[in-house]
Amino acid sequence: MFKKDFVWGAATASFQIEGAAYEDGKGLSIWDTFCKEAGKVKEGHTGDIACDHYHRVDEDVRLMSELGLKAYRFSVSWPRIFPKGTGEVNQKGVDFYNHLIDKLLEYGIEPYMTMYHWDLPYELHKRGGWLNPEIADWFGAYAEVLVKNYSDRVKNFITLNEPQVFIGCGYLEGSHAPGYKLGSRDLLQMGINVLNAHGKAVEAIRKYAVQPAKIGVAMATCPFVPQTESEADVKAAMMCYGNADRNNFVFTDAFWLDPMVFGKLPKGIIDTCADILPENAEKIAAGLKGSIDFIGENTYQANIIKADENGFPTAGKLAVGHPRTSIDWAVYPDALYWGAKQAYERYKLPYIITESGMAAHDWVSLDGKVHDPNRIDYMHRYIKGLRRAAGEGVDVAGYFSWSFMDNFEWAKGYDERFGLVYVDYETQKRTPKDSAYWYKTVIESNGDNL
Ligand code: NOJ
Repeated sequence: MFKKDFVWGAATASFQIEGAAYEDGKGLSIWDTFCKEAGKVKEGHTGDIACDHYHRVDEDVRLMSELGLKAYRFSVSWPRIFPKGTGEVNQKGVDFYNHLIDKLLEYGIEPYMTMYHWDLPYELHKRGGWLNPEIADWFGAYAEVLVKNYSDRVKNFITLNEPQVFIGCGYLEGSHAPGYKLGSRDLLQMGINVLNAHGKAVEAIRKYAVQPAKIGVAMATCPFVPQTESEADVKAAMMCYGNADRNNFVFTDAFWLDPMVFGKLPKGIIDTCADILPENAEKIAAGLKGSIDFIGENTYQANIIKADENGFPTAGKLAVGHPRTSIDWAVYPDALYWGAKQAYERYKLPYIITESGMAAHDWVSLDGKVHDPNRIDYMHRYIKGLRRAAGEGVDVAGYFSWSFMDNFEWAKGYDERFGLVYVDYETQKRTPKDSAYWYKTVIESNGDNL
């Protein structure tokens, strides 16, 4: 059973839906420029228009209400607020989110605001971006503006979305903006800068929020799913969760969450990174202790783990022909169960699925509807896993479907459709998919109908 005040929502992000890339004083982000570089994004798709949400916000919020959403997680475009990243505030940008928040509240939908979902101001990128330690103060100043303008109505703030992916894909693998491939020393410096930026944002929230605010982060988590539920496999899977060292830290949870909860970098980092650890890293980590009120995890995929003959973890295997979604991600119905269990066992904080969902190559059928039985089945299985964790004592506080509507899937462009609502990018017509109507019944029954 989910608790009575369980938060049922859907999520989006500014760059993926807003469009209006050059309007009302918005500055450029690294994704605006990355999309214009040849060969970086599928078929040269851009965020210039996206879902045109910037101009269709009223219609979109009305639809959220019709579909029964209780909460909406969106992100603020940093360069819409600060066209140059710092300095002068763009009032029209501030007003856009004021309007969005007012509309949400008019329909009784709780806003969850993400401060950073990857659209770094290009002007800050030119000054070193996440590699420049000054970014912590730039982010703190940006957070201050958000808190001063919106905290009278927004009670839930998510400082960062998936630091693992914006550093891992943007600066290690190079598949996302700005497309760099850096070494461990730079990546570790960036990681510490990101953590410090989180800390400055938390300071701003705690200092300026005009009502008590809840703070979280949205991690990119691929839980460690035991191959079987034998004690040995379960233990081996749990062993993996807290590991972070020189070779894997970017993609772990522990590198980011241990400082935010315990005020410490994981032992594996201290042991393996002595020669590349920035001088002030441990001090920064110490300052972050207790800086989040809930753990958010974005969960789609997982790692299968089994115990070897000595009880240590080794990689397990999926069966031949295991189900996959259109983006070629394997389906792991137990992912939300194990993700919630593992995070709760380590951190003991309320747990929210800040994103989960499925990409499919949906289309509008002859009857004018969008039939997506696979997404219904996928969500059904995943949410049941989450409910199982709730039944076993994990403090599960919410679930946000990714995504409210189809949108710009980063380097994959518009081909992968994650939405509950289908978007025709030629006409901008929105059509709720079957899964949206199904999700409405889940919300209405607080998950009891699963
Ligand atoms: C994680 C990201 O936060 C979101 O922006 C992305 O579209 C989804 N996962 C799907 O890849």
